Amino acid sequence: MKRTALVTGVSSGIGRAVAGRLLAQGHAVVGISRNVRDEAFENRNFEGFRIDLSDLETLPDRLSEISQRFPGIDSAVFCAGRGRFGCLEEFSYDQIRKLMDLNFTSQAFIARSLLPSFKRRQSGDMIFIGSEAALQGSRKGTIYCASKFALRGFTQALRDECGKSGVRVTLINPGMVKTAFYDDLDFTHGESPRNAIEAEDVAELVASILNLRPETVVDEINLGPLTKVIRFKT
Ligand SMILES: NC(=O)c1ccc[n+]([C@@H]2O[C@H](COP(=O)([O-])OP(=O)(O)OC[C@H]3O[C@@H](n4cnc5c(N)ncnc54)[C@H](OP(=O)(O)O)[C@@H]3O)[C@@H](O)[C@H]2O)c1
Repeated sequence: MKRTALVTGVSSGIGRAVAGRLLAQGHAVVGISRNVRDEAFENRNFEGFRIDLSDLETLPDRLSEISQRFPGIDSAVFCAGRGRFGCLEEFSYDQIRKLMDLNFTSQAFIARSLLPSFKRRQSGDMIFIGSEAALQGSRKGTIYCASKFALRGFTQALRDECGKSGVRVTLINPGMVKTAFYDDLDFTHGESPRNAIEAEDVAELVASILNLRPETVVDEINLGPLTKVIRFKT
């Protein structure tokens, strides 16, 4: 069955790999990120929307614009997000709010905007990219972990709420993935292929979940590299 998927974070990393994979399978993709271009995938089944998801004031209007243009959206893969790490007192109040807005609240807004049409159709998929940080709090990760714990609670409750409506909700919790996520951080994964998942691995998982028969739901999946090695850049 050909789908129309909303994918956030399409300009890089996991989101880009997911969009590429779905387009290669003949699905249509509506992509969101701040820097996306329509030509990004050289595929006429792709359309991009430049949206700053941390701007919650304008987000509902932008989302209803997308819903009106693409009423057939039947799945969503939530990949946009960022990491910011440090001791709590190193965060400004504004940085705390912005990280929660992007990593958690914007995802809830998008799900909220799509859910009525999914429920009317009695089908639809929402696949969220969480993190291993959703499973265990760790030093210097107060706000990042909180945003991912919030997302995990949200998806568990939403999954429970949606089953009777035929809507499937999944959370994928990756360990370290080889993407631009680490570009602005003072640490990264080790250099061996054993130390990082590839974004395409996550994309393959997303495609498999979407292809399952509609009566089966993958609630949550944790995946990680064979060996976890953290490398500090300085
Ligand atoms: N990489 C890892 O090790 C890892 C591990 C576990 C979980 N994750 C999670 O996986 C998700 C994707 O991360 P990634 O590794 O693919 O990182 P990435 O390569 O840095 O991609 C992040 C994506 O999010 C988009 N984005 C960031 N801020 C945005 C904003 N304000 N508004 C709209 N889009 C925004 C970026 O696009 P623009 O810059 O164009 O806006 C980009 O497309 C994140 O939720 C991250 O927490 C990553």
